[in-house]
Amino acid sequence: MALKCAIDLGIPSAIHRNGGSASLPDLLATLPIAENKRPFLHRLMRFLTVSGIFTSADDGVYQLTRVSRLLVDSIPLNLLPFARGAVNENSRKISETSGNFHTVFTRNFRSFLCLGEWFRDGGDTTPFAMAHGIDVWGAMSLDRALAAGFSASMAADSKFLAEIAIRRHVEAFMNVSSLVDVGGGDGSMARAIVKAFPHIKCLVLDLPHVVRGIPADGFVEYVAGDMMDFVPPANVVLLKLVLHDWSDEDCVRILSRCREAISNREGGKVIIIDTVIGSQSQQIYEAQLFLDLCMMTVTTGKEREEKEWHMIFLKAGFTQYKILPILGIKSLIEVYP
Ligand SMILES: C[S@@+](CC[C@H](N)C(=O)[O-])C[C@H]1O[C@@H](n2cnc3c(N)ncnc32)[C@H](O)[C@@H]1O
Repeated sequence: MALKCAIDLGIPSAIHRNGGSASLPDLLATLPIAENKRPFLHRLMRFLTVSGIFTSADDGVYQLTRVSRLLVDSIPLNLLPFARGAVNENSRKISETSGNFHTVFTRNFRSFLCLGEWFRDGGDTTPFAMAHGIDVWGAMSLDRALAAGFSASMAADSKFLAEIAIRRHVEAFMNVSSLVDVGGGDGSMARAIVKAFPHIKCLVLDLPHVVRGIPADGFVEYVAGDMMDFVPPANVVLLKLVLHDWSDEDCVRILSRCREAISNREGGKVIIIDTVIGSQSQQIYEAQLFLDLCMMTVTTGKEREEKEWHMIFLKAGFTQYKILPILGIKSLIEVYP
C-alpha cells in the first residue's frame, strides 16, 4: 500500500527530476500533496526507506535505490506499467464507462482474500473464480479495462526483459529463421526479437480478444487461436510467462502442441522464459515463492522446481533441456525434441 501511494504520488520520478536526490522540502515543493497532509509525508518516506524503496543518509536527503529507479517514468524500459498493474487502479476511467470498477489489482486482491475459504472448500475452482464467479482468462475477455491493464503490465515486463535475455543468451536466437511467440500478448517480446534479429519471421499467437485490433506493423504477424488446440509451425516456439499459468496436465498439452509445431524443422526447439524455483539469494527465492502463491490464487498454475519442469518435458515427448538464468527470478529454458 505504501508503494502504491509512492507510485500514485510519483515520488520516484520526482526524486529523479530533482537530480537523483531530494530532501523532504524538495519533495513537498513538487508533489501533489494537500496542505494539511504535508506533515505526514516523512512517515511514508521513513517506512519506504526502511523497506529498501529509497535510501536516506543522516542529512534527510532521499535517493533512489535499484528498485525505485525502475519506477521512474522518464527512464526508458522502466517497470512502472508493470507495478501499476500490480498495485494501481489506473484503468478506473475505462472501467467506469463499462460499468465495472475492477482492475488487475482489485481482482487479485479480492482473490487473495478468498484464500482461506478456498482451502476449506472441496471444489476445484481457483480463488480468483471464487471471488469473481469467472476464471481469470474469462474475466479478461469480458472486461476491456482489466485486459488493457494486464496487457500493459506484461508488455512492460517483456520490453524490460527482452533486451537482457537476448544480450545474455544471444546464441539461443542464432540460426533461427522462424519463431512463434505462444501467448505472446501484444507482441512486445516478438518485436524486440525482430529488432535484434531482423531475418527472423515472427508470429504471435494469442486469444482473439488480445490480438484483435492490434495494427499490423510489418514486423510481427498476429494469429488468433487457442494454444491448447494448435500452434503454428516454426523453428522455435517461445513461451514467456505462459506455462506458470497452467496445471501440469495443461502444460503437457500445450508443450505437445509446441512439439508438433517444430517437428521436422531444422534446429527445432522450444524456448521457455519462466521461473525455476531455487536460488542462493534469499530475496529471489522469496520472490519466486510469492509468485507461486499468486499463481495458486489467480490461475490453475504454479512456479516449478527443476524436477517438476523435467517431468512435464518428458511427458510432452521432449528428451533434453538446458536452463540458463536470465535475471532475478527468471530463467530461459531451451527444450529439445
Ligand atoms: C502471463 S501472460 C504472458 C504474455 C507474454 N508472453 C508476456 O510475457 O508478456 C499469458 C498470455 O497467455 C495468453 N493465453 C491465455 N490462454 C491462452 C490460450 N488458450 N491460447 C493462447 N494464448 C492464451 C493470455 O492472453 C496472455 O497474453
